[in-house]
Amino acid sequence: MIYYFSGTGNSRYAAEKIARQTGDRCVDIADIYRGKIKSVVGKTEVTGFVFPVYYGGMPEMVKRFVTNPEIKNKLGKYVFAVMTCGGNPQAAGLKFTRALGREPDLCASVRMPDNYVIAYAPATGKEAIAVLRKADSKLSGFSDRILNGETYIMQPSVPQKIASVFMYPLYEPFRTTMFYKATDKCVHCGMCAAICPDSAIKMVKGRPKWIKNKCQHCTACINRCPAEAIQFGRITENRGRYNIMKLGQGDTE
Ligand SMILES: Cc1cc2nc3c(=O)[nH]c(=O)nc-3n(C[C@H](O)[C@H](O)[C@H](O)COP(=O)(O)O)c2cc1C
Ligand code: SF4
Ligand code: SF4
Repeated sequence: MIYYFSGTGNSRYAAEKIARQTGDRCVDIADIYRGKIKSVVGKTEVTGFVFPVYYGGMPEMVKRFVTNPEIKNKLGKYVFAVMTCGGNPQAAGLKFTRALGREPDLCASVRMPDNYVIAYAPATGKEAIAVLRKADSKLSGFSDRILNGETYIMQPSVPQKIASVFMYPLYEPFRTTMFYKATDKCVHCGMCAAICPDSAIKMVKGRPKWIKNKCQHCTACINRCPAEAIQFGRITENRGRYNIMKLGQGDTE
């Protein structure tokens, strides 16, 4: 069983690609919390976790999920973690290992197009496709290792470990929903509320309202709004948007 979390589709793409190659099944962690899936499934031979790197660590929901005793009791004989990132995973693997309470058999990261529109203009077009094609071959390599039951741990460098120590605490304050807003470009489609993995958005009189103080900060609402109507303060106004479906890769809604 492969559990994944994904805001803009990279990690879902990675999880599904590995699952196709290893013959596993994928479950969206957010679907468990949204009540779409009643509970985590039974014990399987292989348990995988695929998720994006946030601030040199993992999304809050992933941390909550893997620290849950129920999941710890259902880990298979072979456990792997694949982290998708924009280029610098820092020491996210170590943070994940600590949260899980044991070292995975495979713990590795793969560069995918960067979606963090709040920090900089995200990857788009040909550049993003080129990054994806490189990711494809790396993911196939991970699948081979998983099928062979290999132990493979990517170790962070000392500067990456130091960066994670300072960066990961910044995730918490940035998870505020205070600065999200929908502009007049909103076409009232309700998509942002439907896709939010944290159920943090509710449609009120045809417009999105952020109903939680904090969310996963996954950028799905900003990046996937079909009208590009969602902004994080003013910082995202002149930036493009990224999601893997827009590139014609991965599944569409
Ligand atoms: C809140 C946030 C923090 C991020 N922090 C990092 C980071 O520390 N290092 C990195 O390489 N990429 C970082 N990224 C980029 C994502 O990890 C990367 O684009 C990932 O593949 C997105 O996965 P998804 O499409 O499954 O949501 C960050 C993205 C977000 C939204
Ligand atoms: S996804 Fe965009 S257009 Fe659709 S309701 Fe949300 S803000 Fe409006
Ligand atoms: S509100 Fe937007 S950024 Fe926050 S979890 Fe939901 S979709 Fe992601």
